[in-house]
Amino acid sequence: MNDIQEQIARLSEEIHRHNYYYYMLDDPKISDYDFDCLLQKLIDLEKQYPEYVLPDSPTQRVGGTITKQFASAAHIYPMLSLGNTYSEGDLNEFDARVRALLDGSMEYVCELKYDGVAISLIYEQGVLVRAVTRGDGTRGDVVTDNVKTIGSVPLRLIGDYPDMLEARGEIIMPFQSFEQLNAEREEIGEQPFANPRNAASGSLKLQNSAEVAKRGLSFKLYYALGENLPENNHYDRLRKLHEWGFRFPDVMEKKPDIQGIMDFVHIWDVKRKELPFPIDGIVIKVNDFAQQQQVGSTAKSPRWAIAYKFKAERVSTPLLSVDFQVGRTGIVTPVANLKPVNLAGTVVKRATLNNRDFMRDMDICEGDYLFVEKGGEIIPKIVGVNMEHRQMDASPVPFVEYCPVCGSQLQQNEGEAGVFCPNELHCAPQIKGRLEHFISRKAMNIDSLGEGKIDLLFAQRLLHDAADLYDLTYDRLFGLEKVVEDDNGKSRVLSFKEKTTQNILKGLEQSKQVPFERVLYAIGIRFVGEVTAKKLARKFHDIDTIANATKEELMAVEDVGERVADSIIQYFNNTENLRMVMRLREAGLQFEVGESETPVSQKLQGMNIIVSGVFTIPRDNLKAIIEQHGGKNVSSISKNTTYVVAGEKMGPEKRKKAESLGVPILSEGEFFALLD
Ligand code: IVH
Repeated sequence: MNDIQEQIARLSEEIHRHNYYYYMLDDPKISDYDFDCLLQKLIDLEKQYPEYVLPDSPTQRVGGTITKQFASAAHIYPMLSLGNTYSEGDLNEFDARVRALLDGSMEYVCELKYDGVAISLIYEQGVLVRAVTRGDGTRGDVVTDNVKTIGSVPLRLIGDYPDMLEARGEIIMPFQSFEQLNAEREEIGEQPFANPRNAASGSLKLQNSAEVAKRGLSFKLYYALGENLPENNHYDRLRKLHEWGFRFPDVMEKKPDIQGIMDFVHIWDVKRKELPFPIDGIVIKVNDFAQQQQVGSTAKSPRWAIAYKFKAERVSTPLLSVDFQVGRTGIVTPVANLKPVNLAGTVVKRATLNNRDFMRDMDICEGDYLFVEKGGEIIPKIVGVNMEHRQMDASPVPFVEYCPVCGSQLQQNEGEAGVFCPNELHCAPQIKGRLEHFISRKAMNIDSLGEGKIDLLFAQRLLHDAADLYDLTYDRLFGLEKVVEDDNGKSRVLSFKEKTTQNILKGLEQSKQVPFERVLYAIGIRFVGEVTAKKLARKFHDIDTIANATKEELMAVEDVGERVADSIIQYFNNTENLRMVMRLREAGLQFEVGESETPVSQKLQGMNIIVSGVFTIPRDNLKAIIEQHGGKNVSSISKNTTYVVAGEKMGPEKRKKAESLGVPILSEGEFFALLD
């Protein structure tokens, strides 16, 4: 081994060890910043000496490989599924069946049934060599590079591991990552995922593993296979896997009898609502391997285990009508108006029908009763048609062919489920949607305007695009009136009096200081979200350079793929867009990176800071100051948080958590003292 090889091996070893402390033990020994420095050092070395990259290098967590087509591989042991039950009676029968086949004492293990995607991880000589999806149980897709980016999947085992090991578990997406992902998708006009399971499954099939790395996926271990593995029961074997570097299941309990199982089921039917990731039931397994053998398996599933699925609360209610809503990007979403019905504590009147394919697949007909369900998720979901109420000559509810607002013929792009109105420049909800996006908090943050006021100005023909906002004058605004309805159906008059008018004009004037990256986000280029806008602004510095960039130049920016690049080019090929940008520039908006966006100091370098509460300056400004001094804004408190900057009305929960983790809490004054 030469010097370089040794250095690479040492660094890899060190990073593997810190990954283990962080992901497996929840006990990081160094800060995120120090960790990133180590990783960067290794990335740089590997770039310089690609011939020495180790097969289990921890840099694979960052991703970056592209898989155009996933290969398929046969499973060493078939991946069986579990028998499902929804009733306690069935659980009793399961217990009776098992006991009839066994003599002597026995025990069960109860686990959570994770709601994600099953995965098989193959380790040879302690190194992860292959990750394969369940597929049809016999063969699945090889998604190794993507799975390697998941922090809770060990890349290399430690201790006295066997030559060959197959670890099985579920890849899940925690709710927080799911919500963040969907918010980002909606922001750039993409269809959100229906649930965390679909999101996890879609993420595993992404072509670029660097994208997978950002999806916040997690691995939950539930089974192990191999030749002559130690321990004679499931519980102890998973303990052994923990010694080899896997996370031990968050919840896993031994139970002597059916009563213990029932108690576990009842507790988790309630407690699941507090879990940060989705589960859809409980899995009960016979613990002892010899006894598992004795009970045996069918071709499809083991007889020694069963899944108890939580009942989603479900009702059926008549479909009254279907509305077709047009969104900011022109996508038409069908929404069912239902006869109001009580479901798990709330009244449901409306629920989305997603898109044309969904309505077709469900075969939704006029006069149907629809099943509505509320499972772990908060939003009620339409899950099917109650055929008992199907009328004899019922005809399918037609999907509109023309835009319900502007009358344009709708279109559908190949390979996309969404049907959209192509009349982006003249279709009212699209125009209003773009204006609402323009003034929104993360864009121009003009909070003296809102949906109602935009509506009024649009109805008065004062607004067509964002540039018109800057032509508004006191005389045009003052005295405008409109009757509006609030959420409870009550009417009130919205009128622009002295103060409202002044505030609107002041908000518009202040927005001229909003930095370029947010202006770039605000002008509404499809697929360009907040983060991409930031990266584009930092790379190209001004709007002209972006507008003139070639596809290749655009794609050289992190996060910008072909689709995003095409969308940017298309945007700047449109003369109406160019005209709007020109007028906005004349109005005085920022179309180049200003001095304020270049770092002021590095005093907060490597620090993770949370701001919480109300301050003397807008919170977003405070966050910008943190970034200008090299700090990072984070949103949830962990051991890796450097400071919490507390304003007035900071939530007591946050304070408690900060105190319990020993994270210092600074007042606004103390924070600014750091920068002096
Ligand atoms: S044990 C032979 N345990 O549920 C043992 N499965 O149909 C097979 N699942 O495809 C699986 N949580 O992906 C087991 N704690 C758990 C589980 C679990 C989720 C999934 C698994 C399987 C499906 C059952």
